[in-house]
Amino acid sequence: MFADLSPADQAKYVAAKRAVELVEDGMKLGLGTGSTAAWMVRCLAERVKTEGLRIQGVPTSTRTADLARDLGLEVVTLDQTGHLDITIDGTDEFDSVLSLIKGGGGALLQEKIVASASDQMIVIADFDKHVPQLGKFPLPVEVLGFGLASSRDHIARLLADHGLAGRDITMRMQDDTPFVTDEGNFILDLHLEHIPDAPALAIVLNQVPGVVENGLFINICDRVILGASDGRIEEHLRP
Ligand code: 5RP
Repeated sequence: MFADLSPADQAKYVAAKRAVELVEDGMKLGLGTGSTAAWMVRCLAERVKTEGLRIQGVPTSTRTADLARDLGLEVVTLDQTGHLDITIDGTDEFDSVLSLIKGGGGALLQEKIVASASDQMIVIADFDKHVPQLGKFPLPVEVLGFGLASSRDHIARLLADHGLAGRDITMRMQDDTPFVTDEGNFILDLHLEHIPDAPALAIVLNQVPGVVENGLFINICDRVILGASDGRIEEHLRP
């Protein structure tokens, strides 16, 4: 099976498999969203099938919930579990202190809530996601539909105050219509190129009234597991 995968999927699989090895019987897990997280769900389902591992999973999107159910995992809500042992999720970027940009798949809100309710957040990724400074990947910000133009202007002013004047802010689209999140909100992608002070930006963005959440995950991720198509694994712990 492994040999039939593309090099990109081999790298994702290697990272996902290693992360799933850390799961113990009886654990309550947060299940991330995205193509790397989907490998984690498949690896978990394999352990459930072959070892009889018992776990409960809280998905971070309807897509992950559908996949987990299809593969026979027990899917529960965060309100049912209250607290989680581990969340395993992908990322769009991470830096040396394991700050992340997430939300490329539009699931950042549930992902942040679920990760924050977990004892441990483990991120799985390929080596390309490691960056010296966050910001090359457009920063997703989930916003309410009400007053959207006003929220966007507010964000632009706030960026200017943080040395990021004139950066593009684009509406996330799906085909020809705005992308709608699982919570019925929209996503603005901030094309920043670099973020000089990610912790400060994460705080001020959430002070804009129409902002629901932003894709900066600061002091949430505990461990990053990187996989490569040749089977190499590298692990980073939050300093
Ligand atoms: C979804 C996310 C994903 O984890 C992130 O976009 C990475 O996805 P992939 O594993 O497909 O590269 O944050 O909202």
